[in-house]
Amino acid sequence: MRVDAIRTCLLAWYREAGRTLPWRADRDAYRILVSEMMLVQTTVAAVIPYYERFLRRFPDARSLADADESEVLKMWEGLGYYRRARQLHAAARQVVSAHGGDIPDDPEAVRALPGVGPYIAGAVLSFAFDRPEPIVEANSQRVLARLLALEEDPTSTAGRRRVWSAAARLVPPQQAGDFNQSLMDLGATICTPRQPSCLLCPVAASCEARRRGLQDVIPRSTPRPAPTEVREACAVITQGDRYLVVQRGRGGLWEQFWEFPTIHREGPDPAGRSFDGPVDLPEGVRRLTGVTASIGPVAATVRFGVTRYRVTLEIARGERRAGTPQPGPGLIDTRWETLDGLGALTFGSAGRRILERLRREPGWPGPSGALVPRS
Ligand code: ADE
Repeated sequence: MRVDAIRTCLLAWYREAGRTLPWRADRDAYRILVSEMMLVQTTVAAVIPYYERFLRRFPDARSLADADESEVLKMWEGLGYYRRARQLHAAARQVVSAHGGDIPDDPEAVRALPGVGPYIAGAVLSFAFDRPEPIVEANSQRVLARLLALEEDPTSTAGRRRVWSAAARLVPPQQAGDFNQSLMDLGATICTPRQPSCLLCPVAASCEARRRGLQDVIPRSTPRPAPTEVREACAVITQGDRYLVVQRGRGGLWEQFWEFPTIHREGPDPAGRSFDGPVDLPEGVRRLTGVTASIGPVAATVRFGVTRYRVTLEIARGERRAGTPQPGPGLIDTRWETLDGLGALTFGSAGRRILERLRREPGWPGPSGALVPRS
């Protein structure tokens, strides 16, 4: 690899063409950590409004450490990958308890923070403290795979090792943060997954994939296994203008999230919603909440993906007949809430789609309710 040429050309290009992003306005390690936790598997455009709102509410590690987890989740609602929100919260608490409230300029301490793997550690250490630590995320991974003309899938064990090792060789002793961000920006704007703009690329002359005419087939990928199908069912149960909702307890995919009472029907059970034997929806609702309800037929479905599952959630409408809500197995709270009250609770993606629909049509889904469009 032409290390010196790549460094010089990329840094010069970055000064001219680097993106202006809110987390680049300063070198505050906390703000950089927040941005990187949000950017995991999520696009820059989706992150920006969350990032700005989150920092208005939690401007430093101390304010985040002092917050309740439920408020942190609420601020994260809609971004997905909620484990990240919990890890960031735990990281802020560790920064306060072990480091007096400021993320230290210390690789060991940064790597020891919850949720901080090699990528985020490299990002914080290089962007905030200009330490020559490498980073590899989706964009820089593609750039590096092409510079090397990597034959392996860069996400395979061998591929990953070669890409990280190239990143470590390339990162300069000075301006490491700018260099790392230039790799990312090149991947985001020029060295794109399809039809890379090689004619505009500052390092085209050093690119082995381009030299061999392989820029359209590198990085090579291995097909992902098809997602596993899961079927679940939930009931939208009312009493007057209030809806019955439940909060899930510790452990499992939707820990501490609110939902309409949901049972598992078919396929593997990713979120621990099964009972010992099969139960129908009225019986499931009774066991989950203590409420007896008359529930109509399945009137709508929502489809969504979560981790490696593809979930079809069947939705039926019901009315309370008897019983006072009590949290049953796997739950920590149950409530009757108005639509406004539901807006203050944190729901997963399916629950949010149901809520949006109820706001437009509080009686939905009637017996012939239609499919909920994908949001
Ligand atoms: N993706 C992950 N981290 C990023 C960053 N700091 N800037 C732009 N895209 C990113």
